[in-house]
Formats: sequence, structure tokens, C-alpha cells
Amino acid sequence: MPVLGEDLQRYCRQGFRSFHTPGHKGQQEFFRDINFLKLDLTELPGLDQLSSANGIIARAQQRAAQIFGAEESFFLINGGTAGNQAMFLALGEEAESKKVLVGRQSHKSVMSALVLTGLVPEFLTPIIHPEFNLPLGLDSDIEELDWDTIAACHITYPAYYGTIPDLRKLMDYRNKQGATCPFLIDQAHGSHYLGSLFPPSALALGADLVLHSTHKTLSALTQAAMLHVQGKSICRKKLCQSLELLQSSSPSYLLMVSLELAGEFALASERWAVLKEEVEILHTKVGGFLRILNDNDAGTYGIKLIDWSKILINTRSLGIPAPECVDYLRQDHGIEPELWDQENILFVLGIGNTREDIRALTKGLQGLAELVKGSGSSDFKPERLLLRGYPDVVQRMSPRQAFCAPREFLPLQESLGRIAAEIISPYPPGIPLIVMGEEITVETIEILLAGVQGNWQGWDGFKNGMIWVVREI
Ligand SMILES: Cc1ncc(COP(=O)(O)O)c(C=O)c1O
Repeated sequence: MPVLGEDLQRYCRQGFRSFHTPGHKGQQEFFRDINFLKLDLTELPGLDQLSSANGIIARAQQRAAQIFGAEESFFLINGGTAGNQAMFLALGEEAESKKVLVGRQSHKSVMSALVLTGLVPEFLTPIIHPEFNLPLGLDSDIEELDWDTIAACHITYPAYYGTIPDLRKLMDYRNKQGATCPFLIDQAHGSHYLGSLFPPSALALGADLVLHSTHKTLSALTQAAMLHVQGKSICRKKLCQSLELLQSSSPSYLLMVSLELAGEFALASERWAVLKEEVEILHTKVGGFLRILNDNDAGTYGIKLIDWSKILINTRSLGIPAPECVDYLRQDHGIEPELWDQENILFVLGIGNTREDIRALTKGLQGLAELVKGSGSSDFKPERLLLRGYPDVVQRMSPRQAFCAPREFLPLQESLGRIAAEIISPYPPGIPLIVMGEEITVETIEILLAGVQGNWQGWDGFKNGMIWVVREI
């Protein structure tokens, strides 16, 4: 067998319990009716076309719209990434003369949308939770904002970690000023928000465009996602054209069938009810000695609500670095988390998880208490890169102008006053320190020089203290 396939098989033989995406967790029952080889077809007579659906694909999309509460739904076979990009591409021409309000911690597909469209962002800064050092909340007190200058507002709902910002409050501010700019919601991590077990879906709150990465928590195959639309703010024709520009011309029927099925399974709320019961037990058994994000965190640090199906733990109270805890959980309990940093571990539940999975996780987390006794160490203090917070930055070019401009690679010490040509984020918290198009300040340079040893995303020259800047002509 080829190397990639062999390594995948080897990985699977370890039999980890999945606390990561995709949401189907390898459960055959979600795909019982799919003959994978036979249904791997192309757009043949009678099989409709994704880019101008009016047959079987259209009917499946209509059913999805009915399930998720949209006026129209579009299947995405290039992931939620294409959905975020299409949302911005589909905006009307007034977007050219205004700004788009965007969370600064947004997924990289939002940053790529800014580069593709040339739109100018006005960033909303998330609130970093002091205990987790992660951008869990959003400051929704933006009374001062002049909504007439805003062409669209893009919000991530929920954050990766399952925290929900106060979307309704933001919409109320817009409405109070009589503005009508559309709300574009990245609900990539919350496609399962149906019914009373979860926070309200963004569609229910009145958002205009809503992205679901259906593969993350529901049962669709990886890369299968949906974009939902309602209301009159978004031109449907332009939205379809945008999707056609961005998506493959050979859409996978396997991905589309998995989306159709995922919609039906999404209605099975009893599956989630079982998991919720077990998660509550987990909190009772483990919450005493381990800091877990929980319902009491709602209402603090810009967090409106918590999605219980994402379990975020911080290991500082244990005195053990998170990577050591992950090693233990993987080796001794067969638990595979979604992600971790020096002090946090995130476990993501999906519709395919079982009661037994959560019990195994509870046992594994209980075992961490023993691990602490064994190691005897309690002096772990994770290094945090941004103790003084983020510096003020000035935007001198749009991200697209900076991306397309000629560039050069300079030592940081020589970059003062120049325009950044890359996006650099300390991780955690993963909020960009500088975005392409912004001016490099003394403070930015100081933070970068002080943190060269740290964990950075998007910084090409971190090993030798270099940075990409726009070339001056
Ligand atoms: C918040 C958010 N939005 C969008 C995406 C992109 O989704 P996909 O991986 O389906 O392309 C991700 C992926 O991790 C994400 O975390």
C-alpha cells in the first residue's frame, strides 16, 4: 500500500476515541446507504449540476433549508472556507466604498476573503479570557460605531471553543441607527444548533448569511459544508456566481449525499441529549480539581453563552503543561483531542460520539489528578507572549493591496514604519498582532523580538527575526 494510505491505516489501528472533527466519528451508521465507489459520480444526465441546481441537488438543498431554517441553502464541497469567501464576494458594490466589520481573530478563510475581494476591514477585537489566554469573548458594546460606514458585519458564532458572543446586541445597535447592513455569520463550529439543547442558531436570530462546516460536528464527510441565506440583503444571483467562482467544477456527489444525510441525522436530538447528560456528570466529577469552561463563565469576558459540546480545560491548576496531559490521555486512555497549546486542551464532541466516549474522557481526566500526585510538580507557568496586550495599529493599505504589492524580507529592526505583507499571530491566543496592510510600529517590533522563541502563526522569518514588508518604490 502507498505510504499515505499505510500511515492512515496504522493511525486507525491505534483505535483512539475521537474528540476532534469530523463529527461522524467514524460511525458506519451515518453512511449505511452509501455505496462509496458506485456513487462517486460526476454531473451526468439526470444528476443535476451544483452550480445551477434545478433537479436532485436543488431538492436536497431545499430540504436542508427546511431543516436548518433558511430560505435557501447551498451545498459547499470546498469546505466552509469557500463559504466564508463567497459571503464577502457576494456583497453589493457599496462594499467597495465602505468597510466590513470583521472579528480580528477570524479564521484564515476570512482573511483570504479580504485578499480575494479587496474589501477593507474594520476589526472588532475579541476579549482574551485571562485564565485560558484564548479569545473566548467579543466586546459587543460598540455603541460608538457609525453603522452607515459599514457594508457588512462578519461574526464567528460560536468561537472555536464553543463560546457564543452577544449577536442580538450587535444587531440591536445596527437597528437602532436604522442601518441595514447584512450580518454574515461563521457558524462553522455550530451547525448542530437545532432545538433547545443548544444556543439559538444565527438564522433564528435573523442573520442574513450563515456558514455551517457541517463536517465538524454533524455527520457529513470532511470538506462538506453549507451556506444558508435569508432576507433581501444578499443578491442571490451574485451569491450563486460567487460560489461558482470559488468551488470545484467537479463537485463530489459523495460529499453532497453526506450533506443530505447529515441534515436528516441533525434532527435526532436524542443523540445529543445522551451526550449532554454524560458531560454534566463529567463536570461534576472533574470540575472540582480541573478548570473547565462551564456555564458560570457565561456573562463574563464577552461570553454570552456556552456550547456544552466543546469541552475546554486549562491545566495550569494541575501544575502540568497541557502537552504532557495530552500524552497521558492518548497513551493511557486512547483519547484524541481536537487541539491543545501549552495550557489548554479542547475536546470537540460530534453527533457520532457515544456515552462510552464521554465516560472514557471523564476517566482520563480523573486520571490526571493521579498524574499530578505522581509527578509532584506544581510550578508550571505557561509562557504568555503578549503580557502587555496588543499595540494600536494603523491600516495603510487594504490586505489585498499589500498582498499584491512587490515585497521584501527585512530584519525586524529595519522594518519600523513599513507596511506588513504577512499576517502574524501569536498562538495562543491566535489574534493577529499585525495584518498585511498595517504599519509596523516600535511596539510591534518589540513584541516580535521578545517572542522569537514563542509559538507564532504565519510568521515566515521568526527563526532569524525577519519580516515580509511591502517594498517601497
Ligand atoms: C471558525 C472557522 N470558520 C471556517 C473554517 C473553515 O472551514 P472548513 O475547514 O470547512 O473549510 C474553520 C475551520 O477550521 C473555522 O474554524
